[in-house]
Amino acid sequence: MRPRLIAGNWKMHKTISEAKSFVRDFLTIFQPQQGIEVVMAPPFIALPAVHHALQSTPIQLAAQNLFGKDEGAFTGEISAPMLQDLGCTYVIIGHSERRQHFKETNELINQKIQAALGHGLQPIFCVGERLEEREAGRTESVISNQIIEGLREVSSEQMKTITIAYEPVWAIGTGRAATPDQAAEVHTHIRSTIAGKWGIAQDGLRILYGGSVTAENAGEFFQSSQINGALVGKACLNPESFARIASLAP
Ligand code: PGA
Repeated sequence: MRPRLIAGNWKMHKTISEAKSFVRDFLTIFQPQQGIEVVMAPPFIALPAVHHALQSTPIQLAAQNLFGKDEGAFTGEISAPMLQDLGCTYVIIGHSERRQHFKETNELINQKIQAALGHGLQPIFCVGERLEEREAGRTESVISNQIIEGLREVSSEQMKTITIAYEPVWAIGTGRAATPDQAAEVHTHIRSTIAGKWGIAQDGLRILYGGSVTAENAGEFFQSSQINGALVGKACLNPESFARIASLAP
């Protein structure tokens, strides 16, 4: 069983000085727990400062995005080797905000997955259905498709380094989290899709839930053996609430 993972996705929040003071405050209250990995994903510009501030801690660094090529004439983009050089262990790929606002397709997402894996970065690969897809009974097919296309040509060995985050789009930033049962149901579907195609044992796969996770509701999600952690947005911006989520006993 891989350890529970709690990842904080800062999105487009905090300047470098705000990032430094956040980490300082967080570290004064955070109680590391055996069996829980904690990850912070600040904006690109704050990665070096956060990396420096986390150096003597067990907390790992993630980027929120990358480009699918190693180098070249791609103005404004950041590559996997650059992120690796900055000290990132993880990279979030396929977040619904990137799919929605930046028109990222499953094909583009697959290029990013390949670039990350090619440089030893561990993807936190996000999948999730929109409200109208859920209401039309299409949740499972949408998610299977995101997985099959997004993870095309990923080997079983590489699959073991990928963490999947199930984030129903209707639950992100809305204050309307899925219920633990709704999340567990989709996690079961994800496990069987991946077991069927990649032959990964059910407990070899780590699946997070994301979407309006708070210090108040996180414990309910972690009671389910299907849910191996959380990808936290809004609640990770506050040191107390993120520390509470990250310190819940496994
Ligand atoms: P939220 O965001 O916790 O603010 O809903 C989660 C995410 O987008 O990963």
